[in-house]
Amino acid sequence: MKNSIYITRKIPEEVVKRIAQTCEVRMWEEEETPVPREVLQREIAEVDGLYCMLTESIDAELLNHAKKLRVISNMAVGYNNIDVDTATQRGMVVANTPGVLTETTADLTFALLLATARRLVEGERFVRQGQWHTWAPMLLTGQEVHGSTLGIIGLGRIGQAVAKRAKGFDMDVLYYNRSRKREVENELGIQYVDLDALLQQSDFVCVLTPYTPETKNLIDRRELSLMKKSAVLINTARGGIVNEEALVAALKDGTIWAAGLDVFVEEPVSPQHPLLSLPNVVALPHIGSASIKTRIAMAQLAADNLLKALTGEKPDHLVNP
Ligand code: DGY
Repeated sequence: MKNSIYITRKIPEEVVKRIAQTCEVRMWEEEETPVPREVLQREIAEVDGLYCMLTESIDAELLNHAKKLRVISNMAVGYNNIDVDTATQRGMVVANTPGVLTETTADLTFALLLATARRLVEGERFVRQGQWHTWAPMLLTGQEVHGSTLGIIGLGRIGQAVAKRAKGFDMDVLYYNRSRKREVENELGIQYVDLDALLQQSDFVCVLTPYTPETKNLIDRRELSLMKKSAVLINTARGGIVNEEALVAALKDGTIWAAGLDVFVEEPVSPQHPLLSLPNVVALPHIGSASIKTRIAMAQLAADNLLKALTGEKPDHLVNP
């Protein structure tokens, strides 16, 4: 009998066709609306494999509905949306999609850094709104990027790819990571410091660590207060790593200069969120990995993981401990 699969969002047709060669596939056909929880509860009850997005909370309550689920394949590198412990206890394989999105996410991180430092979004609005009357010496002046100091929190694949880009801008790169990576340090010419030193010395702080109970609110009021007044905070990892309330206060009272955010605690972030009322925030809708090529590669990799695990093979990107 064929394995049955539920896909929680419309994904590229070629990927669906591939999965359908060997499996019975059902899919939530919407592209921009997540599957409602009650639909997911119903569907998960009947399937051997779940192909899901970071927008679905695959928690213990949902997994209670799964009668024969064996594989959960997340189309994302981050898997904080999945209760991996519960899935593991129940013998379910959990897989993710690292690697294929590294460079693309590093590109976006750097784009956001540049956009925030050099006030690109404000400048664009300024031109379109007819406010550009003359060249002026200090008009829309921002922070210098080249030659400045970048602090990377989390030196995983994406952190390293961002460090390489920074070197092209003659930046000094500091990093903080759970474990020190001496070989990478030497290879990239970057320096390990503790978190407080990184915050104190950096002109740009990029948050690139996974979101776990340990990194929740890692950047809070105290950490923000250590940063330079001219510093820019960039977060392309997960919103919950930064305490948003503390960030709003720090951006309002000049504790730090600006923030570039691709991720938020609640996504989609409400247009009424206080962060979005601030001129020194550049906000994006979680598009770190959003190039056509990369999103297709992620979709294919999630399918590879799913199909391999369903045949009893170890998927290339296993998340379970
Ligand atoms: C991920 O994969 O975890 C990103 O946040 C989305 O690409």
